[in-house]
Amino acid sequence: MCGIIGYVGRQNAAPVLLDGLARMEYRGYDSAGVAVRSETRGLQVKKSKGRLQVLSDMIHGGADLEGCLGIGHTRWATHGEPNDINAHPHVSENGAIALVHNGIIENYLEIKEHLQKLGVVFTSDTDSEVVAQLLEYHYNECHSMLEAVGRCLRRIEGSYALGIICADYPNALIAARKDSPLILGFGEDGNYLASDVTAIIKHTRDVAYMDDGEIAVLTADSIDVFDDELVPVEKEHHQVDWDVSAAEKGGYPHFMFKEIMEQPEAIRKTVSPRLRDGRVVLDEFQMTAEETRDISRIFIIACGSSYHVGMVSKYNWERLLRRPVEVCLASEFRYSDPLVDDHTLVIVISQSGETLDTMAAMREAKRRGGKTLAIVNVVGSSIAREADHVLYTWAGPEIAVATTKAYSTQLVLMDLVGLYLGDLLGTVAPEEYRAIVEAVERLPEQMQGWLAHVEDVQYFASRYFNHASMFFIGRNLDYAMGLEGSLKLKEISYIHSEAYASGELKHGTISLIEPGTLVVALGTYGPLFDKFISNVVEVKARGAEVMALTTEDFREKMGKTADAVVTVPNTHPILQPSLGVVPLQLFAYYVALQRGCDIDKPRNLAKSVTVE
Ligand code: M6R
Repeated sequence: MCGIIGYVGRQNAAPVLLDGLARMEYRGYDSAGVAVRSETRGLQVKKSKGRLQVLSDMIHGGADLEGCLGIGHTRWATHGEPNDINAHPHVSENGAIALVHNGIIENYLEIKEHLQKLGVVFTSDTDSEVVAQLLEYHYNECHSMLEAVGRCLRRIEGSYALGIICADYPNALIAARKDSPLILGFGEDGNYLASDVTAIIKHTRDVAYMDDGEIAVLTADSIDVFDDELVPVEKEHHQVDWDVSAAEKGGYPHFMFKEIMEQPEAIRKTVSPRLRDGRVVLDEFQMTAEETRDISRIFIIACGSSYHVGMVSKYNWERLLRRPVEVCLASEFRYSDPLVDDHTLVIVISQSGETLDTMAAMREAKRRGGKTLAIVNVVGSSIAREADHVLYTWAGPEIAVATTKAYSTQLVLMDLVGLYLGDLLGTVAPEEYRAIVEAVERLPEQMQGWLAHVEDVQYFASRYFNHASMFFIGRNLDYAMGLEGSLKLKEISYIHSEAYASGELKHGTISLIEPGTLVVALGTYGPLFDKFISNVVEVKARGAEVMALTTEDFREKMGKTADAVVTVPNTHPILQPSLGVVPLQLFAYYVALQRGCDIDKPRNLAKSVTVE
């Protein structure tokens, strides 16, 4: 979604802004713009619909703009179509104030009408311009920018991360945040503002995370932060522990491919600090047996692929904990009047830690007394900071919009948490516990071995990439894994695809199967393999072309029915989806490659969904 960068210092600002925006391109956007201020030329604003390259060419890589203070933005349209006028920065009527905004101003119409009645003329269709005009209005009242920002924020409702520059404050950049991330970066040659740490990591790893309601004033040499009453606040500094190369392609053709290949290492980093002498140790989330027994309900809440992790975990946790587990889409949960009380454990899963629906669902659960545990990848993100407990997946920065390594690390971390709780409850037999821990320890190596030979998947992708529609079928864990395989394919190759519990086919869906329809048959779940084969036979009988995924144990049997078979190594059944999902990610990747799709930045999608 939208990206913000701001800089004030001793360098020419425009190239810094363009570079920061380029590093946030992965988030998805439809237009881009910058505003730079200098003593001689005043405020210079340039913006354009389309790729960042268009903007960069327009200002010759930034050389056309003069000034060491500026803000930049990549926009993902919500209010108003993607065009040059609706792109940010937005400038107030008298041309003195320019701002960039992420989020949604919910009461923008009411404020707009009020200002229009006072004679203010608006140029765009956006909710963001309303903030620029309102700021000018309050600034004219009080002649203090800080005070004007405070007054403005008291009037607007919704979510915002704001970067503001004002003609009367030639050396300062102002920032404000509510429900949309904003990071302050302390640099040697000046100070930075960004909605995403990747935008500024090249310049500094010394950062502070703004909290809701805070306003910051940045100059070349200082950053001062205030609360919503304009009282100064001391911010804790954090050191980002990865460097710029982690967010670069490093010779791979796409971030998605790089991130698929990084999965063994990401899993290793996520599990190894949590396995000691054959035991699961969760330093950041400790419960007693009594507290665990006190839990009467468990919810897993997430969106998209993180929700699919929840779907796999439901099967695994119910097996390990013998407690009912409910998996909910965050966007549904938050408005469902959920049955949460202080005996409820709520697991929230999010790669970005900024997904607005997930955050709102978590807040709702907390409000009702639930105990919240967040499984998050981005350190210092909003969900991580607001949850009662957080366990990080150590996948490193994930740039491709289609998640891969974050999904895999979430999955295995959920298995560890399930094992930990099951052990406390006494519902996991010691030999089962041992077998799972050993399997987790072996997992990265098994995955790495498999990833050395991806030719089969590449070949099948070239055989099937032209199909208009694909069905993923499976039972139990394979069904849950199929949901993710289907989503991967849809989001990057734009092929219509659905995932079904194969036992359900004959209750309706099988009518869609006709000669040549591609069915991806997921048969890695041993206990139901024979039942599953019957479903494969049913679709074959109706003319489907079947590409199957199975384990070494079942390869021969599967080969008798399917047209093509991909095999993954055997592991403990609860970990089988961790291996099985990898060929599905690669299949989607190679299909999208064959179809010439923009793999890392699929159309209409954003990496982190910070609006409802
Ligand atoms: O950052 P989150 O895990 O909260 O994001 C949730 C979904 O938006 C995300 O998983 C999305 O479905 C991915 N693009 C799928 O690849």
